[in-house]
Amino acid sequence: MTDTPTRRIKSKPVPLAAASSLEKTVPLRINGKQYFHNGDPNLPLLWFLRDVLRLTGAKYGCDSNTCGACMVLIDGKAQHACAIAVKDLARREIVTIEGLAGKNALHPLQESWIAEDAIGCGYCQPGQIIAAAALLKRKPDPGDADIDTITNLCRCGTYPRIRAAIMRTAAGKKA
Ligand code: FES
Ligand code: FES
Repeated sequence: MTDTPTRRIKSKPVPLAAASSLEKTVPLRINGKQYFHNGDPNLPLLWFLRDVLRLTGAKYGCDSNTCGACMVLIDGKAQHACAIAVKDLARREIVTIEGLAGKNALHPLQESWIAEDAIGCGYCQPGQIIAAAALLKRKPDPGDADIDTITNLCRCGTYPRIRAAIMRTAAGKKA
């Protein structure tokens, strides 16, 4: 009796791309430099800044688009980096607190923050300064009502000193 030849079934090779099918290259312009994100395009910008670039000025607070601790400038507007995916940021201009001063040592707002002793524990302050920078860009001479539109939270209650620092910057006062 002859053995019936068994048919060998060739298993299909698993495409190498399977594990990285979500990966895309996203060009990102941050603080005047060009970067490329190779990975999950849905990664929130906050984690690209903090974990990949080690720009830790933008803070992780509520993670729900509310507190403002993660704020950065995107095309000059203050936005929450926890709530925007890198895939939506190609060809946008992103500025973090680390890049706000440009080539100068400090931005005028940072000088005013020091002069008015605006900082408590400091956690919320990068986001507060970014929000103030966006406000002064659209309202160079803001009134109280304009400053009230900044909704960033501060658990240390430094709001009056932040207000004074914004007013000082708008008035062009030196420290
Ligand atoms: S951590 Fe982004 S708004 Fe609070
Ligand atoms: S300075 Fe502490 S949370 Fe604002």
